[in-house]
Amino acid sequence: MFETLPGFRDFPPEECSRRNHLFRVFRTVARAFDFKEYDAPVLEPLDLYVEKSGEEIVNQLFHFEDKGERRVALRPELTPTLARMVAARANALPKPIKWFNVGEHFRYERPQKGRGRSFYQFNADLLGEAEVGADAELIALLVAIFETLGLNQGDFKIRLSDRLTWVCLLEDLGVSESARPAVLDAIDKSERRKDQQTQEALEKAMPGLGNHLAEEITKIKKIDSLEALSTRIETCKGKENHLTRWKQMMNLLEAHGALPYVVIDLSIVRGLAYYTGFVYEAFEASGEGRALAGGGRYDHLLKKLSGNVDLPACGFAIGDMTLSDCLAAKGLTPNYITAPDLYVIAGETQTNLGISMASRARKAGFSASYSLKAVGFGKQFKDAGKSGARYALILGEEEEQTEQVKIKDLRNSAEVTVAQSSMLAKLEELDSQGGIE
Ligand code: HAM
Repeated sequence: MFETLPGFRDFPPEECSRRNHLFRVFRTVARAFDFKEYDAPVLEPLDLYVEKSGEEIVNQLFHFEDKGERRVALRPELTPTLARMVAARANALPKPIKWFNVGEHFRYERPQKGRGRSFYQFNADLLGEAEVGADAELIALLVAIFETLGLNQGDFKIRLSDRLTWVCLLEDLGVSESARPAVLDAIDKSERRKDQQTQEALEKAMPGLGNHLAEEITKIKKIDSLEALSTRIETCKGKENHLTRWKQMMNLLEAHGALPYVVIDLSIVRGLAYYTGFVYEAFEASGEGRALAGGGRYDHLLKKLSGNVDLPACGFAIGDMTLSDCLAAKGLTPNYITAPDLYVIAGETQTNLGISMASRARKAGFSASYSLKAVGFGKQFKDAGKSGARYALILGEEEEQTEQVKIKDLRNSAEVTVAQSSMLAKLEELDSQGGIE
């Protein structure tokens, strides 16, 4: 027997319908925010990710050489692809560009709870707008999606940070520009590492300063209010700018109704190399489990990829695995079974009449099933029950002769008999009144 590869999932119909429930909510809420859906290849040139996404993702790539000797990779994320697509069409696109996608991604990670090698992401990105209103719009979209799925305050929080604030703090601490990426990387990993390891990474990045940096960074990571932030950046260059942006952000989030979910948390810096401004990650409020979503501003990625198109950009992605686990733990997973509306039950000599009734019903938009081989009425009734259908359409000799059909409500066993010619009208009427009394 073959099994799925480690970290890959099968989606039998029930799992698939739960997954599709997520996808439906993603699409409905994104459209309410006037985002347009797009799609892109799952296989890309390997070089698209090297240097653009950062070391962590590059180490996790599924990559190989194709038959044309091209070095290619399955997409681990969508942001470089989106940047390529938008840069190629930048002049023709009205701004701001608000695009979303629901799609599969691949990372060669160690499979564990909430982490697979294939997973789905909902990506939403806003390009062509440098103002903080764009960042706030995205966080509001993230909150609206979680709320629509039934999550409330007390269920999740969005930890908000800002790379620009970090840059000014690091400058203030004497970290050189060349050492900055390594220091930010050490901060990003510090939650998953022992203090000693973080200190060593900081020492490697800034020899002689490791200890001091570790202590200061620990203090900065504890900042959780605008007041504390304002006090800490007192000595930093450009502090007014940063405070103004933070205040604007908080104001806008309040107007969106998203503020109760947001906490200031400078321990978030994000592992991906391209972020340049506000960054955030969503977690369960308990703080347990891996991130539900992550994103931020990446103003230089388009220029880096295209060489000539310079568009500010920001966005986020929600992963399906952690989100599904979170919804299941809170009893918010809908119990979808894909049941037909109708099950047609016919006598041996009424089989073809039954099929033509099912066919008429299907054309009118009802889903209909029936037994594919000749079996007795008893077995057909049993199968109708198992199928979960709402109504049985019953056709025996008597119905055939009188050109009638019996409609049985399988929830309460109530029945009505109608002319075959008015079956569809009757079904529609029953649909609107909620069944047979
Ligand atoms: P990311 O933080 O790498 O960001 O991924 C976003 C979300 O995808 C995570 O919070 C997590 O829920 C899910 N995810 C990531 N890796 C895995 C995995 N191996 N298994 C299951 N779920 C996973 C990005 O990908 C950025 N490109 C997001 C973005 C869009 N930034 C700007 N625009």
